[in-house]
This record gives sequence, C-alpha cells and structure tokens, in this order.
Amino acid sequence: MRDDSPSAELLEWYDRHARVMPWRVPPRDRKEGVRPDPYRVWLSEVMLQQTTVAAVRDYFRRFTDRWPTVAALAGSEDADVMAEWAGLGYYARARNLLKCARAVVADHGGVFPTTRDALLTLPGIGPYTASAVAAIAYDEPATVVDGNVERVMARLHNVATPLPAAKPELTALAEAFTPDTRPGDYAQAVMDLGATICTPRNPACGICPWRSRCVARVEGTAAALPAKSPKKAKPVRFGIAYVVRRIDGAVLLERRPDSGLLGGMLGWPGTEWSEKTPEPAPPIRAEWKDLGAEARHTFTHFHLRLTILTATVPMDRTPTRGDFVERADYSPAALPTAMRKVHDLAFVTHRRV
Ligand code: ADE
Repeated sequence: MRDDSPSAELLEWYDRHARVMPWRVPPRDRKEGVRPDPYRVWLSEVMLQQTTVAAVRDYFRRFTDRWPTVAALAGSEDADVMAEWAGLGYYARARNLLKCARAVVADHGGVFPTTRDALLTLPGIGPYTASAVAAIAYDEPATVVDGNVERVMARLHNVATPLPAAKPELTALAEAFTPDTRPGDYAQAVMDLGATICTPRNPACGICPWRSRCVARVEGTAAALPAKSPKKAKPVRFGIAYVVRRIDGAVLLERRPDSGLLGGMLGWPGTEWSEKTPEPAPPIRAEWKDLGAEARHTFTHFHLRLTILTATVPMDRTPTRGDFVERADYSPAALPTAMRKVHDLAFVTHRRV
C-alpha cells in the first residue's frame, strides 16, 4: 500500500534530490546498509551550527584529512585545532569539540554513545547536536530542529507567532512529524528542503513536495514566515590592536583567554573592547604609528572597530604581553577573522609592517 504520510512524501523527494555532502551517506547507500561514521556526523553538525554548508565544506575536509578519527582529534594539540578552526567563528565550539573528543576517548573507549540521552551527557553536546547525531548516525527517531526546520514548520502550519517565542510550538510540530521509518534521512530531508526550496526569501513553492499540505502557501503568507520579533540594534565597541614587527620579521601575538570572545584564539595584543574610547594598553615599549585605517568586524551582539597602531622594534626589546612568533611560523590563516582583517590592513593594504 502506498504510504501518503507527510514524511513518506518528503522521503520520496529526498531520494531524488538529497544534496551531496562530504559527511553524508546518500539515501541509496543507506538503504543498502551503509552507515554514516558518527565521528563525521558529529563533526559536521558542530561545524554547521551558525555556519552554512558552503563555508563548512573545506574545513570539514581539512579536519578529517588531518584527524580521521575521534581518537586522532582527541590526541591533538589545542593550538592546532584552534588554528584549523580559525575563520569559522564561534570559537567555543572548537574548544568544546576537543573536550568532547577527549571524553569520548576517555569515558567511552573512543566510540560515540548511540542514544540521544547518552550523547547529551558529553561536553559541548546540546539538544540539537544530540538529536542530529542520534538520528543521522543511529536512526533514532529524534527530532532535529534548526533554523531551516523552524521555517518549514512555521510555513507548513502557518504559525504567526514570531520567533523566538514560537520555538516551543515549532519544536512540538516538528516532533509530531518525525517518523519511525528512516528518521535519519528524514532529519536531513527537512533541512535540505529548508535550504533549497523552502528558502527564507522567494521560496520555490511550486516544486515543493509538501505544496499540497502547506497552509502558508494556500494563505499566501509563506514569504513572510517565520515572523521574527524586532532585533535590538547592535552597539558599536571600540578597541586598539597593536601590530608589532621585530626587525627580523617576527610578529607579536597573544593567545586570548579560553573564556570570552575569540576564546583560546591567537590575536594581536590589544585593549579592552568598549563602547567608550579605550584605555591604551601597549604590549611593548615602542614608537606607535596609527595605520589610519580601522578594522571592522561584526559579532553576534556588537559591531567592533579596531584602531590599528603599528611599530617596529629592535631584537632586544621585551614585550610585557604576548610572544614573538618567527616570520616563518606566522600564518594569518590561523587568526580569527577580526584579527585576520587587522593583518590584511597592516600587512597587505597598507604594507606598514
Ligand atoms: N544543516 C545542518 N546539518 C545538516 C544536515 N545534516 N543536512 C543538511 N543540512 C544541514
């Protein structure tokens, strides 16, 4: 008998249109019994939080080439992992990634736990990641709710309540739709639907496998959903970044404390970032020159503007903060994006150092 449940309709669409991704086992292979590697599923899901598939692909390849197993990742140096993560943002994810890998090795014999509940006990694994790994790697009928899924559910049921207040309602709707058959493929199918057809702007309702069920399509409200509560305007914070070059070409860098923004990442020594003019905090005695161009970067809760002061210092000058990194060991690719922008301005655009 033909199954005309909503999930069966979506799975039929997914069988034909699943996106190809380096961490994904395509639906045809899954049906033949190929199982995804939980390590790769977990790593990809952590990377995909707050980040697009396009941005994640190359990072995922580099990580899995360098650390093909969770044991390999657990045995790596913190600084190497932070450097590979540089540019992906939300650096707490990278620190938690390492903690989690080490817990899997220390407490679970290097094998990821197989249920959502057990996954939730690991450091850095929250409800989203636990559900995604349980569903995709182990076919537990756990419900995966990300921004794509919220949008699909809001439209399907024409939920007018704005986000974030609508979250519990959208999660309950997503749970009600989650099937016991092929829950791993289903979880990925809803996300693919949201990413390719039920897109934020100009949804392609005419080719949607759920077009005949979608209340927002009938009501003509799809493009306006999900409604969102107005966001507060982001404040601007100011800081100074000190770019120091020693005469042999070494540069002065400082590792940021583990807690706080860009935690655990390398960066230029600098001042606090505040809404008022920052108190100078030079990391070494030097004759400072203002680069005359500021680095601008937007974080989740504020816009940052960094004044860039540069200096060249002799070999015997000792910094009060940070460490000199030999030119041959200095890689701007290992810097988080805000710090990388400072590099680009000081070393490339203005060639000051
Ligand atoms: N976004 C986050 N995780 C995803 C997945 N597994 N498939 C498609 N899109 C995703």
